[in-house]
Amino acid sequence: MKVAVIGTGYVGLTTAVSLAMKGHDVLGIDLVEAKIVQLQQGKSPIYEPGLEEALGELLKSGTLKFTTQIADAWEAEILFICVGTPESADGTADLRYVFAAVSAVESLHRKAPRDRAVVMKSTVPVGTGDRIAELLREIDGLHVVSNPEFLREGNALKDALQPTRIVIGTDHQDAADAMEKLYQGVSATRVSTTRANAELIKYASNAFLATRISFMNELARLSGELGTDIVTVAHGMGLDSRIGPEFLRAGVGYGGSCFPKDTIALLQLANQHGISLTILDKVREVNTKQPTWFLEQLRKQMDDVAGKRIAVLGLAFKPETDDIREAPSLKVLEALQKDGASIVAYDPIAVDIVRPLFPKVEYTDNPVEAFIGADAALLITEWKECVQLDWEEIKASMAAPLLFDGRNAWPAKQLKDAGFHYTGVGRS
Ligand code: UDX
Repeated sequence: MKVAVIGTGYVGLTTAVSLAMKGHDVLGIDLVEAKIVQLQQGKSPIYEPGLEEALGELLKSGTLKFTTQIADAWEAEILFICVGTPESADGTADLRYVFAAVSAVESLHRKAPRDRAVVMKSTVPVGTGDRIAELLREIDGLHVVSNPEFLREGNALKDALQPTRIVIGTDHQDAADAMEKLYQGVSATRVSTTRANAELIKYASNAFLATRISFMNELARLSGELGTDIVTVAHGMGLDSRIGPEFLRAGVGYGGSCFPKDTIALLQLANQHGISLTILDKVREVNTKQPTWFLEQLRKQMDDVAGKRIAVLGLAFKPETDDIREAPSLKVLEALQKDGASIVAYDPIAVDIVRPLFPKVEYTDNPVEAFIGADAALLITEWKECVQLDWEEIKASMAAPLLFDGRNAWPAKQLKDAGFHYTGVGRS
């Protein structure tokens, strides 16, 4: 099928590449010329495993092209809107890019009319798809569909190619049929529903996952006091098929572009309807406090952090990405700096993005070097480079063997046996 994707950010680029990989003829569109030039040369503006390789092959075969001109999409039968919906000052989703894209689609359609589905992949407040449909109602042949994505950064291409489910929200049969044709051969359960249900499925999924994490983070604080082990507890819980094993990992808190933004947007949407989502409000509160609580464990064990050399391992909000949006590492660096610590930080790919924000921090491109002379080391992102380490060498190089594992990813027992003073999140 002929497909156009407006917006070549995380979601747009992954969507464009995955659809081209499935054999569709895809055109990626973005207003930012520099980005399009970069993409035309096969360079991905974001780091995502497998993406750049796929991009190169698809450009060569000609199934994926990029342009700044929406007019080039005149043949497209499906137009995805994948533009950003950033957080406004009041926490609601800022829809200005969405509506700009809709108006671009409208003018394209007027010049080159045909039966078309306008598919919203951007995360938008419930009711937005219907608002857009209302705006476009007098235009023949343009049908609005909500088709949210559930991509995880670091796993985005795989998630796009093998989705957990395909949610299609539309009231128009031809548009539903076009979407089915688009996803033909993808074995995932379909949820065919209204636009509004599809929109809420997206927000509710992210809010629920964030809730699981905050629940475990809060429980971990208790677990630490009880002398129990939250990792074992999570394992025991997760074996119940009603609970499931995922998203039960306690740590320094969730970050990223989705959970923080989508939870506040859902709360604000509820407020606008006179509903207070008490649990979700607390989920955010727990997450805000989690890095502070983690650092308290450090302060309890070090008389004074001022002047001490502290190693911070991992800066990205999760492994396999260079994304630092809402990353717990930023709060950790800020607090340690305020305490007067001398910080040395390591991340395999996010250093250049963090450096301008924290120019006084010392950065190293070798995780083992970060430990040299350190009075304590903190694991903030569980990159394999930060986890699979030669602990004997590290023990000999640290000024004091104090380890604070913010992801419960270091081998606790082995480290304790080796004489380290190990503190995890909710571990005995
Ligand atoms: C999330 C959703 O998973 C995805 O479906 C949606 O489309 C976008 O938002 P993403 O933000 O890329 O994806 O990462 P995810 O793997 O969900 O992790 C989010 C944050 O939660 C990370 O900071 C991660 O470290 C943290 N996390 C995750 C935990 O602290 N514990 C867990 O058990 C799982």
